[in-house]
Amino acid sequence: MRLCVVLSAARMAPGPGTPLKGVHPGRWLMLLALRLLFLVPAGEPVGRSESNVPKAMDNVTVRQGDNAVLRCIIDSGVTRVAWLNRSSILYAGKDKWSLDPRVVIVTNSKTEYSIQIMAVDVYDEGPYTCSVQTHNHPRTTRVHIIVQVPPKIVNISNSISVNEGSNVTLLCLAIGRPEPTVTWRHLSPTARGFTSDDEYLEITGIAKEDAGEYECSAYNDVSLTDVRKVQVEVNYPPLILETRNVGAAVGQKGILQCEAYAVPSAEFEWYKEERRLFNGLNGIQIKKNGDISVLTFFNVSEEDYGNYTCVAMNKLGTSNSSVLLFVQFKIVQGSHPCTEESQKILSTTQQGPGAVLDGNNRASAGVTPSLWLLVILFVHLLFKF
Ligand SMILES: *[C@@H]1O[C@H](CO)[C@@H](O)[C@H](O)[C@H]1NC(C)=O
Ligand SMILES: *[C@@H]1O[C@H](CO)[C@@H](O)[C@H](O)[C@H]1NC(C)=O
Ligand SMILES: *[C@@H]1O[C@H](CO)[C@@H](O)[C@H](O)[C@H]1NC(C)=O
Ligand SMILES: *[C@@H]1O[C@H](CO)[C@@H](O)[C@H](O)[C@H]1NC(C)=O
Ligand SMILES: *[C@@H]1O[C@H](CO)[C@@H](O)[C@H](O)[C@H]1NC(C)=O
Ligand SMILES: *[C@@H]1O[C@H](CO)[C@@H](O)[C@H](O)[C@H]1NC(C)=O
Ligand SMILES: *[C@@H]1O[C@H](CO)[C@@H](O)[C@H](O)[C@H]1NC(C)=O
Repeated sequence: MRLCVVLSAARMAPGPGTPLKGVHPGRWLMLLALRLLFLVPAGEPVGRSESNVPKAMDNVTVRQGDNAVLRCIIDSGVTRVAWLNRSSILYAGKDKWSLDPRVVIVTNSKTEYSIQIMAVDVYDEGPYTCSVQTHNHPRTTRVHIIVQVPPKIVNISNSISVNEGSNVTLLCLAIGRPEPTVTWRHLSPTARGFTSDDEYLEITGIAKEDAGEYECSAYNDVSLTDVRKVQVEVNYPPLILETRNVGAAVGQKGILQCEAYAVPSAEFEWYKEERRLFNGLNGIQIKKNGDISVLTFFNVSEEDYGNYTCVAMNKLGTSNSSVLLFVQFKIVQGSHPCTEESQKILSTTQQGPGAVLDGNNRASAGVTPSLWLLVILFVHLLFKF
């Protein structure tokens, strides 16, 4: 039974250039001794230990890729020494048994017996044993190699584009030793400001405000935190902001604007009654400027006054709003006792480009349609005389 164990140990780690059958008898004996001592109950009282017992060692903590030195301090009178990785012999005395080129002996003196493992990797983690024999008194000391690995995010959700109201789950998987702590947070947080203390961030019924960048961090106490970001886009149908009615005088420039929030960005159409308006026709220009569609009349004529409808649309929906182009009161020459000069000034300010007057627009908002028709009629009459 014991012989079998020894044989298997020898097969696992035959000495370099040593044929299995031709193992030196001295080695056999030593192997047998080593084997026997592994069968000794683990909890043998340490209090009985004599002066030639290897000193207790701290565990060796090493970063992945670094070198680890395993030291065994011994006293004189020791006849045989060996280092083992679990049950396989790495070194016995000056003889290397391990086939691993990363394992080298660094000290083999009367007081110390040490080996080095270069470029330690996670599979090297575990118990290593220094075995010492004095006459018929074998003793072993164990040391654990603990391998640390910096945190690394290995799998993270892709950036996504979802519709408002969807349920969203973001995933972030990280490796490292010790096991990294993973957290999520919304980088442009609003009232809801989603965060999470684990790999999963769940958002139920996502809102527009939840759009933006989300950051996953993975950290352990080995080294710097690993951080990755994910973009979450939330699509929603157009939402037209309050439109403002605009006044302009005949012959002047008139500008109607329609602003809509939407993701993806809205496309716009303009209508007068049922008639669709097109850019470049009838002295008008339709231009998109970010979220705003601008309808420009370069030379307002009487037929231009009226009720316009702006339609904003994207793949999620359509929304419309109406806006009035109404008659701007001109400061009519001769109706005031003005000097010629001041009339000129007044007239230039009125005729200047962008003669849209904010004060009048504000005043116009909320006035009933019928009142506007009256105003238009009144101006018509005014011009006729
Ligand atoms: C060494 O590591 C092992 C395994 O992690 C642990 O059981 C033992 O308590 C550690 N010993 C010391 C001295 O830290
Ligand atoms: C120690 O043993 C483990 C398990 O057999 C093995 O994967 C690792 O390469 C060994 N390390 C050394 C340094 O021998
Ligand atoms: C990442 O995780 C997801 C969900 O567990 C899985 O479907 C996917 O295959 C993983 N990707 C990679 C590259 O491991
Ligand atoms: C989102 O999750 C909630 C609660 O878990 C569920 O009631 C709802 O049906 C889900 N919505 C969708 C679109 O899957
Ligand atoms: C504006 O239109 C009127 C009438 O069609 C025309 O007489 C006038 O010259 C135009 N003004 C400009 C600046 O184009
Ligand atoms: C504007 O929206 C209303 C409903 O909100 C709809 O009935 C109407 O047809 C829309 N008008 C246009 C021109 O799309
Ligand atoms: C403009 O037209 C729309 C529908 O085409 C109507 O709902 C709205 O009341 C009109 N506005 C005015 C000021 O007449």
